[in-house]
Amino acid sequence: MTQTVSYTMEGFLEDVKHTFASTSDPLAQAREVAENLKTLLATPGWLEEMLDLPEEGGYGPKSLHLEEDAGHPGPGFWLMASVQKPDQDNLPHDHGNAWVVYGVYQGAIEQTKWRWFYPGEGVDQLQIKETGQFIQKEGAVAFFLPGEIHNTRNVTGGRALVVRLESQKLDRLTRYQYNPEDTTMRVMDR
Ligand SMILES: [Fe+2]
Repeated sequence: MTQTVSYTMEGFLEDVKHTFASTSDPLAQAREVAENLKTLLATPGWLEEMLDLPEEGGYGPKSLHLEEDAGHPGPGFWLMASVQKPDQDNLPHDHGNAWVVYGVYQGAIEQTKWRWFYPGEGVDQLQIKETGQFIQKEGAVAFFLPGEIHNTRNVTGGRALVVRLESQKLDRLTRYQYNPEDTTMRVMDR
């Protein structure tokens, strides 16, 4: 009988290090890491084991692994989990020069993408507008390349468990948050 060996978080991290060592192309990196994260998401139990979550609540960001020897654009990739409240959302933001892979371990999130529209592009005044939206269900991965703008919303109807890999821990980078209501932007503290 063939025994199936489950993928592990440690195995995933080794694969991510291998990706950074084998290419400097952020698109190729994000694609490969997303593919491997998809495999990890399909492995039951590993995140519960890492988080030791209560039945309800336990919201907030949880660090899973910070790797100082690899990353993009500089070293310090970060694997984390975000335990999200029902309907939790955020304002549109970018990730500076980093790319980020989002994976849904439990629940579903809505991803909305944005860009600036200038007069002559179908608007009278400069504004930031939605360009697309999709629902990321359990087991699905999505990545955002350097400079891309998005926001997320938990549409699970309960708690959502989202795993994120930041190609370089975002608090090390300058990045922006955008307010479509009053057409402003500001540097994010995190
Ligand atoms: Fe983001």
